[in-house]
Amino acid sequence: MSVVAKKDLNITINGKAFTAPEGTVILEACKLSGFEVTNLCYNRKLKPFAACRTCMVEVTENGKKQLVYSCTHPVSEGAAIRISTEETDRYNQACLEMLLVEHPLDCPICDKSGVCPLQDNTEMLELQKNRFEIQRRNEPSLKSNPLIEFYLNRCILCGLCVRACDEIQGVQALDFHKRGMKSAIGTANDEPLDCEFCGQCITVCPTGALNDLSSEARGLAALFKQTETTCNFCSWGCTLQLETKKGDVIRIVADEGYDVGINEGNLCAKGRFGHGMIQNEQRIKTPLMNYGGTF
Ligand code: SF4
Ligand code: SF4
Ligand code: SF4
Ligand code: FES
Repeated sequence: MSVVAKKDLNITINGKAFTAPEGTVILEACKLSGFEVTNLCYNRKLKPFAACRTCMVEVTENGKKQLVYSCTHPVSEGAAIRISTEETDRYNQACLEMLLVEHPLDCPICDKSGVCPLQDNTEMLELQKNRFEIQRRNEPSLKSNPLIEFYLNRCILCGLCVRACDEIQGVQALDFHKRGMKSAIGTANDEPLDCEFCGQCITVCPTGALNDLSSEARGLAALFKQTETTCNFCSWGCTLQLETKKGDVIRIVADEGYDVGINEGNLCAKGRFGHGMIQNEQRIKTPLMNYGGTF
């Protein structure tokens, strides 16, 4: 099988010259060149979806200037991209304001606080107040299984969990339900979640709508110490991040960064949720021999 290398295309971002591989979407090209574009529904491992509409940029191609969603529009030779212009900021701010109409903003008690893309985007766009009438949801927290909590009041319907479950895991345990203001993600017929419990949906969620119950009430994630290490549950050796607080392992996450580990930020149920055994009092700490049924 022959592999065809992708051509590098010449582009400019805010007047500076860069190159980006052919087929790269503008948002990714900006990221690779050191520019952050606001976004809430993009993940480089998933197909573009354009749900949040907060990633608008200006691009001039073949003399034609237009505003495009940077998560879906691929770079082209000679494209002149401008990000964070007055016009794109105004558009992206308005879309973010609409997402925040329903969002509870309970950051002080949210698992995501400090590592929350929704917070970061609000900060990047310097959003000070919302011009729209606030209509908070009042859905109960769903704990239909011991590992993943659904707290849909914080969901912004970005679809990342649905797509990760389908495109990465091939499980399709989640989907969109209902229409309009009642739209929500969930399981078929609202059955209790019955899946592989890989936790990828938690990883990709840009809000605190999906929470890891194995580390419930653990405190502010932004204050945890992160240590990159290798999972020792099996011989694959996935790369993971152990998060510790005062020396205790609180949570396991995976690094979605480029070229980090063979697992590219994905974990299985044991790797992600199995950290309880590390500090378990009954854990065997020395070798034992079995003498007729007793150790
Ligand atoms: S999801 Fe983010 S913005 Fe929303 S309450 Fe949690 S920390 Fe705050
Ligand atoms: S834990 Fe994995 S399999 Fe289960 S819903 Fe989330 S992404 Fe799908
Ligand atoms: S639960 Fe999270 S990932 Fe899923 S649609 Fe809502 S905000 Fe997006
Ligand atoms: S990141 Fe482009 S529309 Fe959401």
